[in-house]
Amino acid sequence: MSASIAPVAETVTCRGERFRLYLDADTIAARVQAIGRAIDAEYDGKRPILIGVLNGAFMFLSDLMRAISIDCEVDFLKLSSYGAEKVSSGTVTELKKIDADLGGRHIIVVEDIVDTGLSMQFITELMAELNPASVRTATLLHKKAATRPDLNLQLDYVGFEIDNLFVIGYGLDYGQLGRNLPAIYILDED
Ligand code: IMP
Repeated sequence: MSASIAPVAETVTCRGERFRLYLDADTIAARVQAIGRAIDAEYDGKRPILIGVLNGAFMFLSDLMRAISIDCEVDFLKLSSYGAEKVSSGTVTELKKIDADLGGRHIIVVEDIVDTGLSMQFITELMAELNPASVRTATLLHKKAATRPDLNLQLDYVGFEIDNLFVIGYGLDYGQLGRNLPAIYILDED
């Protein structure tokens, strides 16, 4: 049996808008491996629980978990989303709660992207109420220029600091489309 690798598109169209390749799959994979090794080193013997934020973080989370070799667990929560908009609505609500008992546990919240930071702040406050042993955060992408400085967010593991433009791919969507792209694409404003 022979496997063929699909060529990587330099530009894609999603919902009628053009996006250009920004972070390719190899670049993402190398960074995810490095974060996995850091978690291995810092959490040995602590059996962390990764809390993935649905839907966008599922791809990063599944690769990150395979890059971790120490014992670890996983669970998910879901927040209200952007809908089909490209700007944050500014309000966050919890749509799916976590099943696991997080009391005394070492939690790592895993997000696809931190934009304004409101979602991450909402989640870390939610986690802190559950009396965990520790709460840290991992995000694949961080739009530093868009993040509200007044939130004083603590981002422990950041894959990439990116430009303040809308991105899709590798789990991130534009109105539910684009999640299946194997790389990250950024809105082409030209
Ligand atoms: P925040 O609350 O403004 O930080 O937004 C976080 C959430 O908004 C992420 O978990 C994503 O679901 C979504 N989001 C923010 N920026 C983008 C983007 O550029 N593309 C796709 N989704 C985004």
